[in-house]
Amino acid sequence: MITDVGIAGSGLMGSALATINLQAGYNLVIFDMKKSQLSKTQSKLNKITDELYQGATVKYTDDISSMKNCNLIIECLTEDENIKSNFYKKIEENCTKESIIATNTSSISINRLAENLQFPARFLGLHFMNPPQVIKFVEIINHESLDKRILGEIKQYLRVMEMISIECNDKPGFIVNRVLLPMINEAIYCYENGTSDAKSIDTALKVGANHPMGPLELADFIGLDTCLFILKVLQEDFNDLKYKPCPLLEEYVRLGKLGKKTKEGFYKY
Ligand SMILES: NC(=O)c1ccc[n+]([C@@H]2O[C@H](COP(=O)([O-])OP(=O)(O)OC[C@H]3O[C@@H](n4cnc5c(N)ncnc54)[C@H](O)[C@@H]3O)[C@@H](O)[C@H]2O)c1
Repeated sequence: MITDVGIAGSGLMGSALATINLQAGYNLVIFDMKKSQLSKTQSKLNKITDELYQGATVKYTDDISSMKNCNLIIECLTEDENIKSNFYKKIEENCTKESIIATNTSSISINRLAENLQFPARFLGLHFMNPPQVIKFVEIINHESLDKRILGEIKQYLRVMEMISIECNDKPGFIVNRVLLPMINEAIYCYENGTSDAKSIDTALKVGANHPMGPLELADFIGLDTCLFILKVLQEDFNDLKYKPCPLLEEYVRLGKLGKKTKEGFYKY
């Protein structure tokens, strides 16, 4: 049974995952190499502990060995294959053989990442969406050497956090990003070639296709740099030009217009 969770990486996703794990009553060890990131997460979690804290313990650390008693370690480090690969080598020296190790990667092949582990059977992809406090959905990514017996434990862990999950195989973009990003890209083409203004394109999809958010406002929310990165991964890994990013998206990213986080993208904030 999963009781103690290690969150490796205390950035955007790591701190959000820490929040939902704590609210579900899991003991946490939050690890990051930057003390400033740990402090940010600590002030965020301090706000929720009074309302929803269920007596779980939380430890903030830059020492990887502090995760040695965690049954599940969720790696939320920077989206960089070298950083993640080095981490897996080190964490295996600092946890038990029974510990499950998951990655929250949005785009890197789970099979390729699994090659860095001495015991890949206990490794899997858990792709949480941003923000996980609102989007209660996780893609569980299989790979060739995964021991399927751990899936029951993982599904039970996710159920405690009231997350709906599906299993999928290790294909570029998994499901959500593979379907979502080409739609966002096409909406940017519509905007670029003057089909309509941003608000009308978003209204068309919100009302005309019953989507909760329009594609351009959603792109601003995800971050235009992240959208560009995922499209490039899809294009490269499938070797298919249908995923080629719209030139306007490349230009916005070059200009530092990254969406909500820089206060300007397809909209101003
Ligand atoms: N941002 C999103 O919308 C989103 C959504 C789903 C999944 N993801 C995935 O989650 C992961 C994290 O993304 P993020 O947006 O939270 O990134 P982020 O840049 O906000 O956070 C990454 C954290 O990792 C830490 N870190 C980097 N290298 C480290 C190392 N060697 N040792 C210890 N700490 C280290 C950094 O200090 C930083 O705090 C990525 O794999 C990303 O693909 C992101």
